[in-house]
Amino acid sequence: MCGIVGYVGHQVALDVVIAGLKRLEYRGYDSAGVAVVADGELAMDKRAGKLANLEKSLAEQPLPAGTTGIGHTRWATHGAPNDRNAHPHLDGPGRVAVVHNGIVENFVALRAELAERGVELRSETDTEVVVHLLSEALDAMEADGGARDLAEAMRRVCRRLEGAFTLVAADAAQPDVVVGARRNSPLVVGLGEGENFLASDVAAFIAHTRTALELGQDQVVELRRDGVTVTDFAGAPVETNEYRVDWDASAAEKGGYDYFMLKEIAEQPKAVADTLLGRIGADGQLTLDEVRIPDSVLREIDKIVIIACGTSFHAGLIAKYAIEHWTRIPCEVEVASEFRYRDPILDQQTLVVAISQSGESMDTLMALRHAREQGAKVLAICNTNGSTIPRESDAVLYTHAGPEVAVASTKAFLTQLVACYLVALYLGQVRGTKWGDEITEVIRQLADMPQQVERVLDTMEPVRELARSLADARSVLFLGRHVGYPVALEGALKLKELAYMHAEGFAAGELKHGPIALIEEGLPVVVVVPSPRGRSVLHDKIVSNIQEIRARGARTIVVAEEGDEAVVPFADHLVRIPRTPVLLQPLVATVPLQVFACELATAKGHEVDQPRNLAKSVTVE
Ligand code: F6R
Repeated sequence: MCGIVGYVGHQVALDVVIAGLKRLEYRGYDSAGVAVVADGELAMDKRAGKLANLEKSLAEQPLPAGTTGIGHTRWATHGAPNDRNAHPHLDGPGRVAVVHNGIVENFVALRAELAERGVELRSETDTEVVVHLLSEALDAMEADGGARDLAEAMRRVCRRLEGAFTLVAADAAQPDVVVGARRNSPLVVGLGEGENFLASDVAAFIAHTRTALELGQDQVVELRRDGVTVTDFAGAPVETNEYRVDWDASAAEKGGYDYFMLKEIAEQPKAVADTLLGRIGADGQLTLDEVRIPDSVLREIDKIVIIACGTSFHAGLIAKYAIEHWTRIPCEVEVASEFRYRDPILDQQTLVVAISQSGESMDTLMALRHAREQGAKVLAICNTNGSTIPRESDAVLYTHAGPEVAVASTKAFLTQLVACYLVALYLGQVRGTKWGDEITEVIRQLADMPQQVERVLDTMEPVRELARSLADARSVLFLGRHVGYPVALEGALKLKELAYMHAEGFAAGELKHGPIALIEEGLPVVVVVPSPRGRSVLHDKIVSNIQEIRARGARTIVVAEEGDEAVVPFADHLVRIPRTPVLLQPLVATVPLQVFACELATAKGHEVDQPRNLAKSVTVE
């Protein structure tokens, strides 16, 4: 949520910052702005709307070519998404510029305090207080006969701020310095040769360097051409952890696809394969050595609680079926924003699994802290190396989806499912349940899932055609049973966020308890059919459900396994998916629903990579 870039080096800062913002635009696209320091002056431009508006403005009125700059792409929290509220924000004399991600929770009090001192605030944002406080701190240093020290000013200001924030600032009087600070919001440092970078996400500087530095909580970083200094908010130096980013710039490019989402859907077989890589031994046993929770501890776990948001929550719902089946450990799944404010019953024998693509979702982060405070062990399932959620967890199982740029999650979801299956199967393996043979067989079949996902992708043309034909539909319902129920929820979420239409997922068994009243002539209803080879009663029940809705006029879109002939007479449209073990079906059943939503949204003329009002990484509560 909000993308931030900072640069000090030998290149034209504006070019580096704009290129970085392009890679971060998925984090917010309500407005964008840049500030550069050149010839002892600060020059700034900012525009409402997408980055393209800013680029147009810069083309008409270029900024000077300084080598120090900062930039921002905004997801609005406080204040409408207009030019005035866009970042950077400047102090009165226009010497200091600040960009911000997060929320300064005590900004009302700080605004009042500044107003009392006669400071004129020009925007409705919480951010603007920061730049005025910085400016005051810098002026005070000068008044005391000292030099302006942006890093020290930032520390003083941060000590006064409440909430979650990443801040990056520049000062015209210190042309070779950019300063960043973070509390609970993401900020990474890129270490180059004679140049250094700050960004919300490594994608912003991956074209220049793959060496990154993690910043911890409540830390301030001073960036110069030839080095970086990191301290805590009190000014004490802190140790930092350098790491190498294991993907390159091309992974964050569209690679010939019209949208990132199309590319990411197509990448799913590889993402699934990469997430399995090295985790299934030649003997068919799972090895999850990186999960640094000893098997002896895992054997003692008596309860599992999964916390996540949105699509990651849906992965958690599917994981529950797998975990309870293969391990016989009770498993609860809860949206992190609810869990966090409850009094959950947890102890040392509880394993909390926090699922997050970005590793930065504030709700999930707060929920995991809530769990750890009560003694629970936390295992993160995460796609972003070095992000906050894995860093604050006891252990992490990384998904290897590669960078996911489209706001709507696709390949990350499939890899989260793989990671959840791995956890469930591994727990089953170390604890030795009566399902031992089944576990061995499923591990074998898991290795085959990349090919199965590929097969689904190869047969998607009729789904795209169907989606285009439904571009004018007012509403689409999704039904499922067992693991097909969370798949239905996920299908509905994708359609809501991309096509901006009413879409709802239901457990098919709940139909008669209310939702069936929604069925009317021609209403498209997608039904995810469980395998007839599983618990056949489930299959029979959903076949009855399909008949019930069809009798009431629904247009049925049936997603069913190859060879399932029982559904054929009741399907207005039939989407075939390969046979898989029952619990693994979501890996193939979700794909047509992603393609359906993406195509329908495109047919409506929507920008699928950047749906309105959304941001990829939700770093506010
Ligand atoms: C939907 C989507 C969101 C995220 C949710 C959690 O397509 O992407 O619902 O799944 O915001 O994000 P992470 O997984 O980064 O914690």
